[in-house]
Amino acid sequence: MAPTIEIKESTVLVILGASGDLAKKKLFPGLYGLERKCLLPEDFQVVGFAPDQISHEEFVNIIRSPVKLESPRFAEQLKQFCNRCSYVSGHEGGDKSFEALKKKLDEIGHGKKEQHRLFYMALPPSVFVPMSEQLKKHCYSEKGQTRLIIEKPFGHDLESSRELQRSLDPNWREDEIFRVDHYLGKEVVNNLLVLRFGNEIFGSIWNQRNIDNIQVSILEGKGAEGRGSYFNSTGVIRDVMQNHMIQILALLTMERPKSLSADDLCDQKVRVLDWIQPIKVEDTIIGQYAKSGDGEKPAFKDEEDVPDDSRCATFCAAIAHIDNERWNGVPFFLKAGKALNESKTEIIIQLKHSANANIFKDMVPNKLTIRVQPNEGVFLTVNTSVPSLTTSIEPMDLDLTYRDREIPEAYEALLLDALRGDYSRSVRGDELDASWKIFTPLLHHLDENEEEKPREYRYGSTGPEGLDEFVTSYQNRSK
Ligand code: NDP
Ligand code: BG6
Repeated sequence: MAPTIEIKESTVLVILGASGDLAKKKLFPGLYGLERKCLLPEDFQVVGFAPDQISHEEFVNIIRSPVKLESPRFAEQLKQFCNRCSYVSGHEGGDKSFEALKKKLDEIGHGKKEQHRLFYMALPPSVFVPMSEQLKKHCYSEKGQTRLIIEKPFGHDLESSRELQRSLDPNWREDEIFRVDHYLGKEVVNNLLVLRFGNEIFGSIWNQRNIDNIQVSILEGKGAEGRGSYFNSTGVIRDVMQNHMIQILALLTMERPKSLSADDLCDQKVRVLDWIQPIKVEDTIIGQYAKSGDGEKPAFKDEEDVPDDSRCATFCAAIAHIDNERWNGVPFFLKAGKALNESKTEIIIQLKHSANANIFKDMVPNKLTIRVQPNEGVFLTVNTSVPSLTTSIEPMDLDLTYRDREIPEAYEALLLDALRGDYSRSVRGDELDASWKIFTPLLHHLDENEEEKPREYRYGSTGPEGLDEFVTSYQNRSK
């Protein structure tokens, strides 16, 4: 196991964009979750920073508003958490705002031997670079560590992702940048390494000799309601496939790392991602949702700021291939979409037919289902004898549901990593490069070719027509 690292004393977390959606819905609740678990050092402080001129009380209301209090004890902990928080307004803009922020940080660090400063960039991507330059100029810690925490999007293709990296390089070392992909904080995604490398029963079958195909799906029942403009410029491939899905795929397929250190883990992820061929347009089905059958739910094009001729992909099914010895010949079915008939993130490892299949009738190949959400769990479908006087067989699930276990929130886990300086779940720069290489040719093709129109599917359906035939044709090819 990697050694547990503690959060250093005299640590301050600054949330830039403290009045925004990410801060309100994920970051403050995540930090409060850490308070409840007593994981924050006594002198840990949070500073909110945003253009609004708001009072301390108004800021505390932002922090309190999403929290549900189940007991009076939690009310006390919430109060304790709010006491750690202060607010600096950046309304003056430019140098003046950052001088005000520096003043606050110096006040907090007054009289201390050292101070560690972390800056969470919960900001529009257009201001990442100028804000990070201002932070380096005014707020870099002279007597402690400084770290920048950034969220996707990390560019919109390979070149822009490299450009973003080049812009950060003069001021920030790679080991000072923590890149968040919140899927890496999800418990079941975290469990993939333990399942694979901690259990001989799975480790020994994890290859092309035993596995027929692997399916990874990120399905969402909700459409792009209220986020039309963002989504129209992003699309589902950039929104969840290049990042969240690729991280799942890397953990599923990488070789065993030498250790659980951040570098050993990232090295193996990069190695396997480099084996994935860029996805070809003919290996995809691209869709966009239309109104629901009953007309109640809107089409994507009904969203505000989405033009009538939008070709934005709200659905993508794609086949990926990994050309190394372990995975050669195994198709990876990747599927992601909005406005579907269900919300589910799931991985299916479909095993090949058993060589003993001919002695029993009605055998099904074993299948390992890893449910990331909802109802987290791992299920292994095995053939069992039906209790009776004749030999008949039925598939049943060995069921490892997480039902009664408390599952930490993804942002709690990643905030704790960032605060501790544990980079094992941070996305390293070369991982980004490798993941963009897989999708950039496809994205450029879709962006540039007017004739590439997504197939329509109904809001609330399983996706565009032709999906089943598409999947079956690859399943047959792999036989
Ligand atoms: P919002 O637009 O809701 O919030 C952005 C925040 O940044 C606001 O506090 C805003 O203040 C502030 N801000 C905007 N421009 C400036 C500026 N020039 N100087 C200083 N502060 C500024 O965005 P989100 O919170 O949704 O997203 C923030 C980042 O996180 C984005 O990069 C997004 O892609 C990413 N992200 C968000 C997720 C989410 O769940 N929301 C999930 C994953 C990633 P004001 O409102 O006063 O302009
Ligand atoms: C975000 C995307 O990164 O992930 C959203 O921008 C998507 O569009 C979300 O809905 C899915 O995350 P989760 O945790 O709800 O599965």
